[in-house]
Amino acid sequence: MSLSIKLSSRIAITTGATGQVGYVMVLTLAEAGADIAIHYHGNAGKAAVLQTEIEAMGRRACVVQADVTDLNSVREMRDPISNTLGSPDIVVACAVESVWPWSSVLEEDIADYESPFRSCVLHNVNLAKAFIPAMQARNAGRYIGINTECSMQVAPTQSAYTAGKRGMDAVLRVLAKEVGEHQIT
Ligand SMILES: NC(=O)c1ccc[n+]([C@@H]2O[C@H](COP(=O)([O-])OP(=O)(O)OC[C@H]3O[C@@H](n4cnc5c(N)ncnc54)[C@H](OP(=O)(O)O)[C@@H]3O)[C@@H](O)[C@H]2O)c1
Repeated sequence: MSLSIKLSSRIAITTGATGQVGYVMVLTLAEAGADIAIHYHGNAGKAAVLQTEIEAMGRRACVVQADVTDLNSVREMRDPISNTLGSPDIVVACAVESVWPWSSVLEEDIADYESPFRSCVLHNVNLAKAFIPAMQARNAGRYIGINTECSMQVAPTQSAYTAGKRGMDAVLRVLAKEVGEHQIT
């Protein structure tokens, strides 16, 4: 497949690059020409393999680790990325904590709602706080949050996941209005 989008000289960070979707997202961004900050949480080995693949494509890459639910951890990724690649023009929020098992609202544990809140809502708040200010200073940026069809389907047993993803959607829609004047979409 050839891509019409050209991202040469752009720098992207993808959280959850070691996940199913993030891995493909990173390869696609690199194919379009972007240099990539590969974020992982626990799977350092897969991140290293991905870095090798990206560099073999002729792109620059660095690997960064963070817990996306923790603001300090997310902020600590900035310096290693800036020092190796530069400040990201593109943020792709792909990481997610899995919640299992899914149950009905009446049966789901209250605690099961906390992980989607942290990994969907706070994840995006943390990324925005860490990377949007530099985009504002440059008057350019792209922020891509990966949602799910479950948000629209609102199927039984999916309330915890759907609540997190709908909350994430709300944060990003508000953020878009707050920073859109800086050509950040
Ligand atoms: N897969 C699908 O069919 C599908 C469908 C619709 C939407 N989505 C959405 O696509 C996105 C990616 O899903 P996926 O299926 O690719 O997920 P996945 O394969 O389960 O991967 C999850 C990723 O998130 C990272 N992660 C988990 N907890 C983290 C934490 N606390 N801090 C930082 N990173 C953490 C993992 O890192 P490590 O592996 O390094 O620990 C991994 O890279 C999600 O937003 C999901 O809602 C997926």
